[in-house]
Amino acid sequence: MIGSILVTGGAGFIGSNLVHSLLRDGHDVTIFDALSRRGSERNMTWLRSQYGHSQLHCIRGDVRNFEAVQAAVREADVIYHLAGQVAVTSSVSHPPKAPRSPGIHAGDG
Ligand SMILES: NC(=O)c1ccc[n+]([C@@H]2O[C@H](COP(=O)([O-])OP(=O)(O)OC[C@H]3O[C@@H](n4cnc5c(N)ncnc54)[C@H](O)[C@@H]3O)[C@@H](O)[C@H]2O)c1
Repeated sequence: MIGSILVTGGAGFIGSNLVHSLLRDGHDVTIFDALSRRGSERNMTWLRSQYGHSQLHCIRGDVRNFEAVQAAVREADVIYHLAGQVAVTSSVSHPPKAPRSPGIHAGDG
């Protein structure tokens, strides 16, 4: 059995499906997500309605915040890093919103 699993971007399209699968298999999962993507709050609400608070933990945070990431990864045995600005056009037109951090680089997809 894997220990604690951290999923950055866990409220996104891929992340929420991954988290759903991990929770269904009985794992403890922490989502680290800025909830900046439209629909991500709805995904989070849906996961919460399915699995409650015992297995699923949520941190609203930005992967560009080094201290927040450092605190989140401390307890994690496995990390899936899926937080990212998916649209290349958005990264070009709004570069400050493209996730970058000293600890994690998020691709632009
Ligand atoms: N969907 C695809 O077909 C596809 C294909 C190849 C690669 N990818 C890559 O997989 C990853 C996830 O893709 P997706 O389709 O689930 O995208 P998505 O936009 O649905 O999910 C990304 C999640 O990251 C969160 N996020 C964005 N910026 C953040 C930040 N600075 N800090 C914390 N959270 C932040 C958003 O709120 C969202 O919940 C991305 O890196 C994407 O580039 C996706």
